[in-house]
Amino acid sequence: MDHFGIVDGVLHAEAVPLDLIAEAVGTPVYVYSTATMRRHVTVFRDAVSSLADPLIAFAVKANPNAAVLATLAREGVGADVVSAGELMRARAAGIPADRIVFSGVAKTADEMALALREGIYQFNLESEPEAETLSLVAQSLGATARVAWRVNPDVDAGTHAKISTGRAEDKFGVPIARARDCYAMAAALPGLAIAGVAVHIGSQLTDLAPFEAAFAKLGGLIAELRADGHAISTADLGGGLGIPYDPSLQAPPTPSDYGAMVVRVTAGWGVRLIFEPGRMIVGNAGVLLTRVVRVKQGSNAPFVIVDAGMNDLMRPSLYDAWHDIAAVVPRNARVSANIVGPVCESSDTFAMGRDIDSVVEGDLIVFRTAGAYGATMANTYNSRALVPEVLVSEDKWALVRERLPLEALIAADHLPPWLEKQGQ
Ligand code: LLP
Repeated sequence: MDHFGIVDGVLHAEAVPLDLIAEAVGTPVYVYSTATMRRHVTVFRDAVSSLADPLIAFAVKANPNAAVLATLAREGVGADVVSAGELMRARAAGIPADRIVFSGVAKTADEMALALREGIYQFNLESEPEAETLSLVAQSLGATARVAWRVNPDVDAGTHAKISTGRAEDKFGVPIARARDCYAMAAALPGLAIAGVAVHIGSQLTDLAPFEAAFAKLGGLIAELRADGHAISTADLGGGLGIPYDPSLQAPPTPSDYGAMVVRVTAGWGVRLIFEPGRMIVGNAGVLLTRVVRVKQGSNAPFVIVDAGMNDLMRPSLYDAWHDIAAVVPRNARVSANIVGPVCESSDTFAMGRDIDSVVEGDLIVFRTAGAYGATMANTYNSRALVPEVLVSEDKWALVRERLPLEALIAADHLPPWLEKQGQ
């Protein structure tokens, strides 16, 4: 459920008409709804409320905007970070260090040192060399790093190949068959304290069975590790729960279905569970608002050319992702159209042969469910200004990331000395 809906013929974010934002800020622009984010935190929290003190660590990569993180911080949410930048953003937004877990395959020594100085809750280790580096960094700081091993359970998440992370061939985690050796190794390394186990098998999962298969393997591992003498007090179940994008498809399992499965599968584990939801918290809470530049006749269907491109919303071009498309002021007529952006690539296509509200040049449309992995993956390809972001709360709205102007984009480049002053 989200808080975007038609009021008096105009699509609103909460109580703010989207045409007003487009006039004030220009397009394309991401617009987020505070109420929707808050609601999703509540829904997720309720879904796991029967567990003892679960830690909900928002996957910052899904939407790292400072205002989004500050909104979530006020809801008491923690953070799952994968870089120094995400860690700094989470701390700046007011997320306490003891609610932060650090994931990622390539943590550098500098990033480890920053996280240790901040006093984060847990590192999720992904390789033996990483454990050795963390041990050295922790010793040099006189600190102790609480660690979990992220294990790769070799479970196919059944999602798009590019967002699957838990198959044997994926780069993430250590093979579960090697896990006991990894724990023995970490237990012997100074500066490390074993805290728990971790798993994350992929994103946009629309079936609970792969989660359950992975969690069951994790439960078996916890028993083995305890038999080996390790104190296991946390289990990080990662993120990955899918959300509805295409209304014509069957809706994915709800957070409460997911929570009930987790409660059942983890009964008796005797650990604090950690969750890293990203998409499920912010996905439905954002739209990408864009204007129709022109409509061009195609050989089969018209091309609706909008001012947002694949550089602003990469998901369709990268993962063939579906984003629902709606007019801001619907005309009560439908058309089958190809919706494309201005970038000079055929992959700059949001939808082909899509049944959409009929639009003409100058109309505003939105790509829905764009709050997760939208603005954060945007770039400036084709020398396009970086897309801005707006946060709405009831009848208030604010620009929470400026459009990086073309002048700033160009000014960031420098000529080397041998090219300066030429031709003068
Ligand atoms: N934890 C870890 C270790 C992760 O790698 C991820 C996502 C999450 C949690 C959050 O997963 P979520 O709950 O959001 O599914 N750009 C892609 C998604 C990449 C996800 C990467 N990892 C997309 O637009 O679909």
